Amino acid sequence: MLQNIYKWFLVVFYFSEEALKAYLVTGGAGFIGSNFIHHMLAVHSNAYVVNYDKLTYAGNLESLADVCSLENYSFVQGDICDGELL
Ligand SMILES: NC(=O)c1ccc[n+]([C@@H]2O[C@H](COP(=O)([O-])OP(=O)(O)OC[C@H]3O[C@@H](n4cnc5c(N)ncnc54)[C@H](O)[C@@H]3O)[C@@H](O)[C@H]2O)c1
Repeated sequence: MLQNIYKWFLVVFYFSEEALKAYLVTGGAGFIGSNFIHHMLAVHSNAYVVNYDKLTYAGNLESLADVCSLENYSFVQGDICDGELL
């Protein structure tokens, strides 16, 4: 009985660890945001990152060229003041 409970605990723990976690990063094409996105994708294999950036003069998507084709990364161009799009 105790052995079965232990097994179920391990199964639940395993799947909850593996579940995808979504992160919305605003200003992700900037200096801090792009480094944060690289960090999240490198360290957290279960992270799904949405980069939401207006692409002002400070935004540069080239700094994310190495991750733009990953399945767990996507980019949306938009303003944080645009409540409807957010
Ligand atoms: N090489 C370096 O060491 C280096 C280079 C650049 C910046 N910095 C430092 O980093 C700090 C700034 O970094 P940061 O990442 O905060 O700023 P940032 O200016 O690098 O990036 C801001 C990002 O937010 C986006 N943005 C601006 N307004 C927006 C809006 N209304 N809606 C959505 N997105 C919007 C921009 O397009 C940009 O991509 C400063 O301290 C600066 O001195 C260091």
